[in-house]
Amino acid sequence: MARFTPDNVELALEIIDRYPVRKSALIPLLHLAQEQDGYVAEDAMAHIAELVGVTPAEVLGTASFYEMFKLHPVGRYVINICTNISCQLLGGEDLLHHAEQTLGVKAGSTTPDGLFTIEDVECIAACTEAPCLQVNYRYRHRITAEEFDQLIEDLRAGRLTDEVPAHGVLARVRQRLVPTSRAGAVAPDDGREPVWMAPPTVPEPAPEAPSGPSAGSV
Ligand code: FES
Repeated sequence: MARFTPDNVELALEIIDRYPVRKSALIPLLHLAQEQDGYVAEDAMAHIAELVGVTPAEVLGTASFYEMFKLHPVGRYVINICTNISCQLLGGEDLLHHAEQTLGVKAGSTTPDGLFTIEDVECIAACTEAPCLQVNYRYRHRITAEEFDQLIEDLRAGRLTDEVPAHGVLARVRQRLVPTSRAGAVAPDDGREPVWMAPPTVPEPAPEAPSGPSAGSV
């Protein structure tokens, strides 16, 4: 799968309709593509380009700027293990090696069953809780090798489905806007700028007071 499904096309059009300019929906649509397939496929980028009226290269340029958009298939669960300084000092590298052994793949790879991808990452901003990891961007703090194995077992058994949805899922409750709350008041292709993007009008300067001696001066 890669281009949007009919349901997702409908949703994509609704998302586009929230913005005064079509291409403002580019990043939300990249999230939608990643939610659909677990990553942003090339055909999905071409489809997004058609929908928002830019080139596929522009879509790629945006998607490739953000590390959280994956441009190749990844596992259902992406596990980021931090090996930056605080985590390294408290066993982050050992944890990474343990994860590689437990899952039988090297960092940067996905298990053959498509369930797990391991990534060796830089600081994920939880240094006081080192060593730490994220699974689909949900944190696990001060994690031991035993806790890692338990995490994998729980994920495999589907015991954490509620807490950790598949990679790419940002929200389980879809935002729905009523038509009157949508921005689509300006047709994206008619060349007009939305009112709030128009340059501010600069007030005329007040005329200067005439110089010279004032009345009553000597
Ligand atoms: S060094 Fe690991 S979270 Fe900052």
